[in-house]
Amino acid sequence: MNTPFRSEDRPARILVVDDSKSVRFALQTNLVEAGFEVVLGVDGEDGLKRALHGDFDLIVTDVDMPKMDGIELCSRLKAEFKTSHIPIIVLSTRDSDKQVEDGFRVGADAYLSKAGDMQENIGRIRDVLQARSFLTGSRILVADDSSSIRLFLKAELSNEGFIVETVADGKQALERVPDFKPDLIISDLMMPEMDGSDLCRALKKDERFSRIPVIIMSTLSDKPLMRRLMREGAATFLVKPFSVAQLSIVIEEIFSSNFRLLLEEKERLQMEHELTLAAIASLVQALEARDSLTRGHSERVALIAVGIGEELGYDQSELDRLLLIGRLHDLGKIGVRDDVLLKESRLDATEFEHVKAHSSMVADILRPIESLHDILEVTLSHHERWDGKGYPDGLKGEDIPFKARIISVADVFEAVTSERPYRDSMPKRVAVDIIREERGKQLCPTCVDAFLRWYERTGGEIDLPDEFQQG
Ligand SMILES: [Fe+2]
Repeated sequence: MNTPFRSEDRPARILVVDDSKSVRFALQTNLVEAGFEVVLGVDGEDGLKRALHGDFDLIVTDVDMPKMDGIELCSRLKAEFKTSHIPIIVLSTRDSDKQVEDGFRVGADAYLSKAGDMQENIGRIRDVLQARSFLTGSRILVADDSSSIRLFLKAELSNEGFIVETVADGKQALERVPDFKPDLIISDLMMPEMDGSDLCRALKKDERFSRIPVIIMSTLSDKPLMRRLMREGAATFLVKPFSVAQLSIVIEEIFSSNFRLLLEEKERLQMEHELTLAAIASLVQALEARDSLTRGHSERVALIAVGIGEELGYDQSELDRLLLIGRLHDLGKIGVRDDVLLKESRLDATEFEHVKAHSSMVADILRPIESLHDILEVTLSHHERWDGKGYPDGLKGEDIPFKARIISVADVFEAVTSERPYRDSMPKRVAVDIIREERGKQLCPTCVDAFLRWYERTGGEIDLPDEFQQG
């Protein structure tokens, strides 16, 4: 799918229609608190008037009301061009099946019980809105050799808020798919050039498009073929002639099952990401537990790097990435022997070579974690130098990934101002002088300038969480 969630530039507007003042008030208070904009209607007639003159994203209506009841209101709204696309939630005190059934029969999208928990009801309202914003703006590609069907579907589906394109056969559909990126394809079965079943097979074979649901339109006589097509991957079929209502139901069903799958996939990825981060945090802690003097080194480098990123105008997601890179950049040291890592005198040449391997080791540790692939090369290059004299590849200038150049500057500041096994810590101004001196030599000029701005702004103070404090 292209855009599962549209970013709204205003809060959703909800029309609440109920003849009971206390119910209206309770709903209004809770919905406004939940961030929605609310307009109230006192009975069915009033609700209809307001709905026709306003611009609403959702309508919540009571069933038993004077003048016009909720069921009639619902059917009138669904019949009006201006309001037919607005989702309607029917609200009632009586949980009778009859009322629920009547509501759905006239096109209501969901049912809420007044006796139900208010927060649960608000959650359900959010779900309905989210499903709707997901539907609106979805792309549908229609393939049919009949121009009247193409015109009819384009008009009806555009009315519903979909973005629609039409083509005359399967071959044209296949050519259009990569650019148009449809969320759904509705295809005739019998067409010249390439028919619906060949189109369906071609899509299923291509990994990029195999997940796009395909609805096949056909006549009753094609039933045996339809069954085969369903086995081959068509999402469902529609028997011609069909009504707009039937088409809408089929499309909503397909999108809601796809929508659920997407949500599940999103949750799964989020969970995997959190587990990964937790595992990495443990590794970094394990590394730092070996050496009390470097305790907090990665965290401090990460926070300075974020400070530099802020000066460079990075957005929050880039800053989060920078924080992660900072925390991970030295993870490869977990593979450095104790006698070298903890040595109190200067390292000899062989030992230094051993330590140098840590930047490629971190890439080896992170390579299996797919969600971290974009930061592999950054961590790999954090000891490269602007003048090309760094390691492991001797990259020079702008060939070094930008975030790696930021980490280098942060690393120098942190290393100089921290205690090392072979020397005491030095004052911050000494570190700043060294960084100035290395501008354009070891360090990237743009990153040094941003660092100096950060230093000017903060005095080099880092707000380190308690667990990282030395001592
Ligand atoms: Fe390092």
